[in-house]
Amino acid sequence: EKGTYPHYMLKEIDEQPVVVRNIIQNYQAENGSLKIDEDILSAMKDADRIYIIAAGTSYHAGLVGKQFIERMAKIPVEVHISSEFGYNMPLLSEKPLFIFISQSGETADSRQVLVQVKELGHKALTITNVPGSTLSREADYTLLLHAGPEIAVASTKAYTAQLAVLAILAQVSGRSKGIETDLDLVKELGIVASAMEALCDSKEEFESIAREYLSVTRNAFFIGRGIDFYVGLEGSLKLKEISYIQAEGFAGGELKHGTIALIEEGTPIIALATQDFVNLSIRGNVKEVVARGANPCIISMEGLEMEGDRFVIPEVHHLLTPLISVVPLQLIAYYAALHRDCDVDKPRNLAKSVTVE
Ligand code: M6R
Repeated sequence: EKGTYPHYMLKEIDEQPVVVRNIIQNYQAENGSLKIDEDILSAMKDADRIYIIAAGTSYHAGLVGKQFIERMAKIPVEVHISSEFGYNMPLLSEKPLFIFISQSGETADSRQVLVQVKELGHKALTITNVPGSTLSREADYTLLLHAGPEIAVASTKAYTAQLAVLAILAQVSGRSKGIETDLDLVKELGIVASAMEALCDSKEEFESIAREYLSVTRNAFFIGRGIDFYVGLEGSLKLKEISYIQAEGFAGGELKHGTIALIEEGTPIIALATQDFVNLSIRGNVKEVVARGANPCIISMEGLEMEGDRFVIPEVHHLLTPLISVVPLQLIAYYAALHRDCDVDKPRNLAKSVTVE
């Protein structure tokens, strides 16, 4: 039940710190270290390449998950949109492992791929929020999100839960092969949960950003580099599905290859700057669009902030920034939809789980 909340979406955004803490607990062994079932670890160890298959928000989580797995477990990863994979199957490696990411575990496009790869004799792991869901039952292994029911059509807490579980899977898999990462994940996820709380306490700030930048515009752009780009894709999906503003996410460096032609006087550009090594280049991209009249809203991270940034998120480990930089984007989308009188929890033309192909 949504209790005193006006919408499920707002409640689910607010639940994120608790969900992250739940995940830590659920994936902790008695000695406090993180654990994953042995059979999943041996499937990860055997794999020479991982194929992540997902749709929508879960696909965006997969893009970040690829970074986690490649960096912490040193296994090459490809991320595919499930509806494309079936007829556009890449040349598979010799020992592939498939990871299906699906909040509902019922997405038909993903299930179709699961059936196909099982027929080919490959192993599959499903990361889902729903125990006993179709994708969980039909895969060889399951990892649960422990996020509690997600009711709003716009996925929020499932995304951050997917990222947390993918980070744990990546690190524990790496460890099981003797790869140590310089990241105390239990501690850093705890810091993430506190940072999420601080962001959820800053709602007025995001309401005013939404009013200032998005209450009348027809379109909006999200830019970032590296993992900030992937979070921008998720921010733009959130905004378009509930506020009906035409929104697109771009890699900062791609702007000059075409998209910059769309920038007009006042076009809102939401730029993420949470990564030290691309901080100056993303700010260079912002200058390029400002020179064409864009209205920039820079969201940066403590330690990287510069004069004129609109919001500064608390500092977290550089790999884990997507778990918190997405929160402002979720809240900005929420308030933009409210300001435009949209049905936040049940946007037009959409269903919570897409069980048709
Ligand atoms: O249940 P799933 O994670 O498989 O759903 C995938 C997409 O349909 C879902 O993420 C969709 O994009 C959301 N409405 C996004 O907020």
